[in-house]
Amino acid sequence: DEEKQKHWFIGSIDCGTTSSRFLIFDGEGQPVASHQIEFTNLFPESGWHEHDPEELATTVQECIDKATEKFFELGHKKKDIRTIGITNQRETTICWDTNTGKPLYNAIVWPDTRTTAIVRELKKRKGADELPQKCGLPLSTYPSSVKFLWLYENVEAVKQAYDEGRCSFGTVDSWLIYKLNGGKDAGVHVTDTTNASRTMFMNLHTLQYDDELLDFFELDRKHITLPKIAPSSDKEAFGKLAFGLLKDVTITGCLGDQSAALVGQCGFTPGMAKNTYGTGCFLLYNVGEKPVISKYGLLATVAYDFGSGRKPVYALEGSIAVAGSGVKFLMNNMGFIKHSSKITELAETVKDNGGVVFVTAFSGLFAPYWIDDAKGTLFGITQHTQRGHIARATLEATCYQTKAILDAMEKDSGHKLEGLAVDGGMSTSNLAMQTQADIIQIPVDRPSMRETTALGAAIGAGFAVGVWKEFDELKEINRENRTLFIPQIDQKKSAALFKKWEQAVEMSRGWVL
Ligand code: G3P
Repeated sequence: DEEKQKHWFIGSIDCGTTSSRFLIFDGEGQPVASHQIEFTNLFPESGWHEHDPEELATTVQECIDKATEKFFELGHKKKDIRTIGITNQRETTICWDTNTGKPLYNAIVWPDTRTTAIVRELKKRKGADELPQKCGLPLSTYPSSVKFLWLYENVEAVKQAYDEGRCSFGTVDSWLIYKLNGGKDAGVHVTDTTNASRTMFMNLHTLQYDDELLDFFELDRKHITLPKIAPSSDKEAFGKLAFGLLKDVTITGCLGDQSAALVGQCGFTPGMAKNTYGTGCFLLYNVGEKPVISKYGLLATVAYDFGSGRKPVYALEGSIAVAGSGVKFLMNNMGFIKHSSKITELAETVKDNGGVVFVTAFSGLFAPYWIDDAKGTLFGITQHTQRGHIARATLEATCYQTKAILDAMEKDSGHKLEGLAVDGGMSTSNLAMQTQADIIQIPVDRPSMRETTALGAAIGAGFAVGVWKEFDELKEINRENRTLFIPQIDQKKSAALFKKWEQAVEMSRGWVL
């Protein structure tokens, strides 16, 4: 088997909020070739966040070809790539014309808050409070359902397509799989259960679209074509590549990026949790084969669903809208740094936050607070405040929200977490991860290979074609050279810092611009 492992590889498409990537993993879970392209993030108005769907697809295709060229240069062949997995930013909503295959509008990206007024109205509808029981999510600006309603109400082309029954709806996975298969002629319009669980259209218990949910949003399935829901690991559902150097290679895994990261961290046992610090930050806690509906502001979601008779596994999720995007804000809007990686250096120019607290509520506040009308707010500024203090406060904002999420998780599950596995861009910062351990008062465990999201999609794809059959076979994957951050401040100091944060959260409410 070891000999066999040396000769097969799995490709992984990762389309996040800021970039597209393609990585090729060997049998030990190490990337051997990769390519990444940043795409355009459009902010046409305050609170609006869009992507060009065509750009998402072309950058993915380019990444596949560029990474594959590098792979060939290493002496490997196309036939060495057994299969491909795909993982993606979730909730982001794309509508296209079923007849022409062309997008009807830009993608509305997950942190976009243009739907605030729609959400306010929906909350008054009968049945609003029961939604989480069915689909795991409360009403907020975050899920795809409300983004689609905005498109229907505000974009003539979408309304017309809907009225004429030629409106195809998809999250980023569906759109990319459709495009990669060849678009309108290929006929693949599919999603997986992890992505579908972010729309509010899928019943979390049956894993099927639910007419009561669609009725709540007044949507008629004769008018909107929803993607077929498949398990995250499936031999046929996701088709194969229609173009490029890997033409005809199958896609057999599909997971929303946060689910993929849990899989990539091998969080297969109930009670395990991971936190991914990407554009946003998302903590997923494996709750096993039955969904747990949160009473404390967390989301219930499909963690992963590997099909072939295996039961789907659910997670409690704490979603934080701003993590890396806070660092990007300091770089692009404030000019504090020239590259995101310099944030730690800037934060280290001061010994602590100097009393500054930054509630980075650029999209309101997500879990566990769900305050739609909160706005980004800086507290504690004095004559003494330097850029370094604000840099620290930006990193700390994500750490505090993680602490609030862990508290909610403990109440929902009745268990205290003993350690937290981390990954994603910001986890590279030792300062941020030490701060995280200090604030949550439990050890933070970071792998050396931090491409866990892409690895998770590769694992999903590999299971479908029999590369692995049992989760146990993965226990050694990515275990070497992990770094453990142990809390270095005492409970009392940590609690005092957190109290200040909670006070700041209260004061960030109710801002109308
Ligand atoms: O729910 C949104 C999430 O999937 C985005 O992930 O990695 O782009 O922050 P990321």
